[in-house]
Amino acid sequence: MVSQFNVPSTIIIGGGASKEVAAQAKRLKASRAFLVTDSYLEKAGLAGQIINYLEKEGITASIFSDVQPDPTDKNVLDGLRQFQESKADIIVGLGGGSPMDTAKVISMLAKNALPMTQYAGYHKVPNPGVPLIVIPTTSGTGSEVTKVAVISDTERNVKMMMLDVNLLPTVALVDYELTLTMPAQLTAYVGVDTLVHAVEAYVSKKANAMTDPFALFSIRLVAENLYTAFKEPDNKKAREGMMLAACQGGIAFANSSVCLVHGMSRPIGALYHVPHGLSNAVLFPAVTVYSIPGALERYATIARVMGYASEKDSDEAAGSALVKGLQELNDKLEVPRLGECVKVELSAFDERVEKMASDALASGSPGNNPVVPDVEEIVELYHNAW
Ligand SMILES: NC(=O)c1ccc[n+]([C@@H]2O[C@H](COP(=O)([O-])OP(=O)(O)OC[C@H]3O[C@@H](n4cnc5c(N)ncnc54)[C@H](O)[C@@H]3O)[C@@H](O)[C@H]2O)c1
Ligand SMILES: [Fe+2]
Repeated sequence: MVSQFNVPSTIIIGGGASKEVAAQAKRLKASRAFLVTDSYLEKAGLAGQIINYLEKEGITASIFSDVQPDPTDKNVLDGLRQFQESKADIIVGLGGGSPMDTAKVISMLAKNALPMTQYAGYHKVPNPGVPLIVIPTTSGTGSEVTKVAVISDTERNVKMMMLDVNLLPTVALVDYELTLTMPAQLTAYVGVDTLVHAVEAYVSKKANAMTDPFALFSIRLVAENLYTAFKEPDNKKAREGMMLAACQGGIAFANSSVCLVHGMSRPIGALYHVPHGLSNAVLFPAVTVYSIPGALERYATIARVMGYASEKDSDEAAGSALVKGLQELNDKLEVPRLGECVKVELSAFDERVEKMASDALASGSPGNNPVVPDVEEIVELYHNAW
C-alpha cells in the first residue's frame, strides 16, 4: 500500500509557544493579520493577547469572532467577506476545532472559487490557500496539524468533511497553557475525541507505518492524562500530555483515516447539535464491540497500551477488557447515553435514523472501519448506544 503523509511544515510545541506568533508571521513576510476566533475567546481576552503579540512587532490585526461551535457555511462566508475587506496577508486561527476549521476554509476560499460544497470529500482543492497560523485552545481535535476541515452545510443539514493538503496550516503553535481554562466537561469531550482519532487511525484500513507510532503514543498519553486533566484542571503535566496527545492523534488520523465512530457522529452533530467529542464518546463503546472482530490484534494492542490488559491476556480477553475500560472511562467522565444527548424521544429519533445512517455511510469514513456496516447495522448501532 502507498500512503501519503502530510503535516504543517512548522509545528512549535510547548508552554508559551503561542508567543511565537509574531516571529512566525514576520518569517512569512506578513504585515496584516486576520484573526479568526470565537466570541468566548474574544471576551476572555485570549484574542487580545495574540493581537498584542502581533502589534508589538508592527503587524496590524483585525478580528473576526463570529464562529459558532460546529461552524456553518454561513460563518465561513461572513469571515471570507471580512477577510477580503481587511486586505490582510495572513490568517491566524485561534480556538478549538471550530475557529481553526473556519480559518482553514476562509484561507482556502480566498484562493479557490465558490461554492465551497465542491470541496467536500477527498483531494478536491486545486490551489493552496493564504498563509495560515493556527493556535489551538482545546486538546482536542488536532485540527492544528490536519489537512481536514468540517463545516456544516446548512442547506442540506450535513457536516461536510473536506480533506486536502491545501487545507493544511502553514504553522501550528501548540501551547498547552491556553487549555488550562477548559472546564471539566469540555476537557472530557475533546479528550475522548482525541482518543477516538488515535484509535480509529490505528484500526483503520488506511493505517500505515508512519501513522501507527503517532496513534499508539497518543492513545498512551490519553490513558495517562485525560482523567487527571478532567479532575484537576490546573494540572500542567496532564494538560501538556493531553495537548501532545491531541496533536499526535491529529497527525495519525489525517494521514490514516477516521472510521465508523466519526461517520456516525457527524449526523448527530448536524441534526441535534451535540458537541463533536460528546457524540463520539457516546458511540465509542458500542462501535468498538461491533468492530473488534475485524482487527482483533490491533484492538488488543490498544487495550494493553491503555493498561486495560497485559501481555499475558489473550487477544480476545484484551478486546473485552477494552470495551469494559472504554465504558468505565465514559462513566468516570460523566458521559451520558445517546438518548440523553439528543434530548428527544426514541420514536422521534427513529424517524430520522435511516437518513442519519445513509449520511454516515455516504461520508466515506465507515468504509475504512475494520468491519464495514450497512444502513441497517448502523441503525442498530445507534440503538445500542441509546
Ligand atoms: N479539522 C479537523 O481535523 C477536526 C477534527 C476533529 C473535529 N473537528 C471539528 O472541530 C469542531 C469541534 O471543536 P472543539 O471540540 O475543539 O470545540 P469548539 O471549537 O467548538 O469549542 C467549544 C467551546 O469551547 C470553548 N473553548 C475553546 N477553548 C477554550 C478554553 N481554552 N477554555 C474555555 N473554553 C474554551 C469555545 O469558546 C466553545 O464555546 C467540530 O466542528 C468538529 O467537527 C475538526
Ligand atoms: Fe474528531
